[in-house]
Amino acid sequence: TTPCEVRIVEVGPRDGLQNEPKLLPAATKIELINRLSGTGLKTIEATSFVSAKWVPQMGDNAEVLRGISKVRGISYPVLTPNIKGFESALAAGAEEVAVFGAASDAFSLKNVNATAAQAIERFRPVLKAAKENGVRVRGYVSTIVGCPYEGAIAPSAVVKVVEALYEMGCYEISLGDTIGVGTPGSMRRMLDEVTRAVPAKDLAVHCHDTYGQALSNILVSLDYGIRVVDASVSGLGGCPYARGASGNAATEDVVYMLHGMGLQTSVDLDKLIQVGRYICTELGRPSESKVNRAWKGP
Ligand code: HMG
Ligand code: MG
Repeated sequence: TTPCEVRIVEVGPRDGLQNEPKLLPAATKIELINRLSGTGLKTIEATSFVSAKWVPQMGDNAEVLRGISKVRGISYPVLTPNIKGFESALAAGAEEVAVFGAASDAFSLKNVNATAAQAIERFRPVLKAAKENGVRVRGYVSTIVGCPYEGAIAPSAVVKVVEALYEMGCYEISLGDTIGVGTPGSMRRMLDEVTRAVPAKDLAVHCHDTYGQALSNILVSLDYGIRVVDASVSGLGGCPYARGASGNAATEDVVYMLHGMGLQTSVDLDKLIQVGRYICTELGRPSESKVNRAWKGP
């Protein structure tokens, strides 16, 4: 991407649906992903290969990944917490995976039953196997500014995990404000240190909107040269191990803001709006995207 281009990582089918009380049939998830593929998005996170006992919403992972109509030029990464998840993902045809670490031990223990350092050790065999199989690996760091159990998180704790994932071979590190407590102030303090450790071109931001700060926090990260933004269509989402956390920044709202700033995204906003309306109808809930609710056409 050039400085005028932003790549959106659509995480709705994974982050968006992992926390929905309503279990959707695999066919609906496949339809959602196929429709998203028609909007111009280049990266669509499809599902996660985690334990179905932990996250029943993602229990149909292989069926979904095998069932979608993959479009050339679009990447469909999936989450893999360990080598078992990686092997299942590879067998289902994954060409890109994501490992997910955290800056907080308390959150990591609740999320993956391992401390932050133990989780990193589980990623080593994943990175090795991925390299052998030509699979790209993205890295997430959760709780970058705040943790539901530990409170405020020191930037130095984030740097440690970001560096470990980057040195291990993750091509991009996504900085997750898991519970959406960050503000432009805490984001800046974190980014001041993290962008010194890893170049901004290899960083992404993943802002949840619990406190209504997601767009502001994304705006701040653009100032640091970050050009990859995670978002979920119609603001679906949350993490089951971070109670009360709401969805990500809504993709419609992010795209509207970026286009208004003269930045390009490759996304057709009108088509995206229609996909947001489709999935909200399926879920029987209103869109969390203000742009979607206000939209009257291009
Ligand atoms: P564990 O119990 O510690 O694992 O769970 P274990 O290795 O001791 O194995 C226990 C059982 O799980 C065994 O089965 C394993 O085979 C099975 P059993 O013998 O009891 O029948 N197992 C698996 N099954 C399927 N897929 C696997 C797998 N691994 C082991 N990959 C584990 C560890 C990581 C599996 C578990 O804690 C888990 O699945 N956690 C779910 C984590 C999750 O999905 N969280 C939400 C995504 S992260 C997120 O939302 C944040 C993010 O959006 C960024 C942000 O917002 O900050 C990315
Ligand atoms: Mg998330």
